[in-house]
Amino acid sequence: MKKAIAIVSLTAAFAAASHSGAVTLTFACDSVGSGYDECQKGANAWAKQTGNTVKLLQVPKETDQRLALYQQQLGAKSGDVDVYMIDVVWPGLIGQHLLDLKKYIPQADVSRHFPAIVQNNTIGGKLVGMPFFTDAGVLYYRTDLLKKYGYTAAPKTWNELATMAQKIQAGERKTNPKFVGYVFQGKNYEGLTCDALEWISSFGGGSIVDPSGKITVNNDKAVAALRTIQGLVGTISPSAVTTYGEEEARNVWQAGNSAFMRNWPYAYAAGQEEGSAVKGKIGVAALPAGPGGKPAATLGGWQLAVNAYSKNPKEAASLVQYMTSLQEQKRRAIEASYNPTIATLYKDPAVLKAVPFFGSLYDVFTNAVARPATVTGSKYNQVSDAFSTAVYNVLTKKTAPGPALKTLEGQLSRIKGRGW
Ligand code: GLC
Repeated sequence: MKKAIAIVSLTAAFAAASHSGAVTLTFACDSVGSGYDECQKGANAWAKQTGNTVKLLQVPKETDQRLALYQQQLGAKSGDVDVYMIDVVWPGLIGQHLLDLKKYIPQADVSRHFPAIVQNNTIGGKLVGMPFFTDAGVLYYRTDLLKKYGYTAAPKTWNELATMAQKIQAGERKTNPKFVGYVFQGKNYEGLTCDALEWISSFGGGSIVDPSGKITVNNDKAVAALRTIQGLVGTISPSAVTTYGEEEARNVWQAGNSAFMRNWPYAYAAGQEEGSAVKGKIGVAALPAGPGGKPAATLGGWQLAVNAYSKNPKEAASLVQYMTSLQEQKRRAIEASYNPTIATLYKDPAVLKAVPFFGSLYDVFTNAVARPATVTGSKYNQVSDAFSTAVYNVLTKKTAPGPALKTLEGQLSRIKGRGW
C-alpha cells in the first residue's frame, strides 16, 4: 500500500516537470555493454511520464574519447547536448560548464546517495553531477574450470593467479588453441590507469599522487607491482592484451576463452545473457593482493550532469532526477548489474538475487581506491595520460619498471609545477 502511494507521487512529480510546451532533450549517455539500451529504457520511461522527448546519442566507448569530444562542445559553449553522463574523474575537468543541481533536485534525493560520491561531484560548492552508478574493479573467474583443475577458491594473490591461470591455460589449450589465462585492460588509455592503480595499490605502493598532492608513484612497491604484471604479458595474458579495453577483454572472456578477467561489474549481467559461453559459470571475487598487501579496486563510476548552456535546464534536471532515482537504479542493478549509489539497494532482496556479489563484495565497492582526480583537478587527464603511458611502456617491454617510474615522476613534477 505504502509503496503504491510513493510511486504515484513520484509519477506526479515528474509529470509536473513537463509544461505545456513539451521539449526534446539530447542525452549523451552510455555505449559500453548494454549501456545504450539501458539508458534508452530509463529515458523512454521519463519521456512517457512527462510528455517530453529524449534523443539518445551514440557516444564513443572510451572514456578518454568521450571527454575529448565533450570538452570541445563545452569549450565552444554549445547547448546541443542537454544531459551528459560524466566519469567520476571529470568533475574537476569540466565542472565549470555544468549546472549546480542543488538548485533543481531536492536535498532529500541527493542525500540518499553515497556521501563520498556526492562530495566527489561537488566542486566549489556546486553539485555538478548526480551519482548514476558506481564501479569498482573485480576479478571474474570460471567456476567450472577452477573445479576441473582442482581449485576450491579464487586466487588471493597475484602469484596464485599466475599459477592457477598457467595450469588452466595449459590444460585448455589442448582442445582450444585460443584459450588464455587472464585478460584485463592493457591498452594505453584511462582503463589502464584504473588497472595499474589496482596493481600498485595492492602491493602497498600508494595511489600515484597522494591526497595532499605529493607525487608518490616512484617507490619500490610500485616497481615490484609493475614487474609482476609485466611478467604476465606473453605468458598467461596474450601479448594482444596491450590493445584491450573493457569490451575486448569481455569478448574473449564471454566467448569462453579465458579463465580469469579483470573488469567492472557490468560484465556480470552481460556474461549471464542467453548465448554467452560463460552463462552460469561466472564467479566474482576481489582482485588479488601483492606480497604483504591487500586487494585493491579502483573506484570508477558515472554521474549525470546538466550542461550549463542547455536551453531546457529544468527538464534536463528532471530527467537526471528520474534516471538517478532509487527505482531506476534498482531496475538497472537487476537487469544489467550496474552498481547503485544508494546504500539501501545493496540490502534489497531482488537486487541481491540478481547480483549476489553486490552483497558479498559490498566492502570492495565502498572501500575502492580513488584515482588522484580531486587533488590534481584540471590537470587530472595529463596526470593519467603520463601514468598510463609509463605503464604501457612497461607492459610492452619498451622500458623497465624502475626507469619508467623515475621518468614518470619527473613528468608529474613538471605538470605539478604548472599548478594543481
Ligand atoms: C569505467 C569506470 C570509469 C573509468 C573507465 C575506464 O567506465 O566506471 O570510471 O574511467 O571505466 O575505462
